[in-house]
Amino acid sequence: MNSKRLIIGNWKMNPITLVEARKIARRIKRVAPDLTKAEAVICPPSPFIAGCSPKKAIKNFHIGAQMVSYEESSGPFTGEVSAPMLRGLGCEYVIVGHSEQRKQGDTDAIVSKRMKAVLDAGMVAVVCVGEAARDEGGIYLEDLKNQVKNSFMDIPKKYVGDIVIAYEPIWAIGAKEAMPPEQVYEMSLFVKKVFSDVFGVDNGLKVKVLYGGSVNFRNAVLIITVGKVDGLLVGRESVNVSGFVELLKAVDAV
Ligand code: PGA
Repeated sequence: MNSKRLIIGNWKMNPITLVEARKIARRIKRVAPDLTKAEAVICPPSPFIAGCSPKKAIKNFHIGAQMVSYEESSGPFTGEVSAPMLRGLGCEYVIVGHSEQRKQGDTDAIVSKRMKAVLDAGMVAVVCVGEAARDEGGIYLEDLKNQVKNSFMDIPKKYVGDIVIAYEPIWAIGAKEAMPPEQVYEMSLFVKKVFSDVFGVDNGLKVKVLYGGSVNFRNAVLIITVGKVDGLLVGRESVNVSGFVELLKAVDAV
């Protein structure tokens, strides 16, 4: 992985039609080649991935998925989409462990299996972690530490270069405001420290940690510069295409 800032758009279950999806993708494809310090990844809903995938590689533009099965490449698994299928559609990144999936039953063990499937298929796993709420006694730090440790425990070290961590405090997702950038800095260091406990200090220093939760074109620069994160995982603002384009340009300029 290179050292560019990774700006990942998690479109969630948006937009409704392929026509709209392609329109958003086209705008981002036009802007991406001019970026110098950042690169864009869009993660459309699965049915739109093929339609948004570029025919030829575009500089600083990548496609990702929001979900993946942990099962083998094919078989009797109704409704599931395998990692090799996503890879075949041009996906280079897959989000795993998003809190909206954890809410539907994904445990750390399941997240780990999904991550393994993504890595085995040669893609980058964007692994979401984050506390549900904060408490004065700091129990949330312990919970976060366990979440990181349990999610990565069974992942072979050879894959460490293909892992990106998205720190997303759940209380800041879909909220009015993002986490203050000073706290983003503290928390990204904490996540790197726990990652080093699993994979060693060198890898802890190298791993990309992104921030996610109510990021928009107005707050993105401070989150990057003061929060000192390696990129952003963007929800709502990623389907507000003008805002996302502004965000990309702003993050590229600092
Ligand atoms: P948000 O979502 O930017 O709309 O808060 C972020 C996410 O869920 O990844």
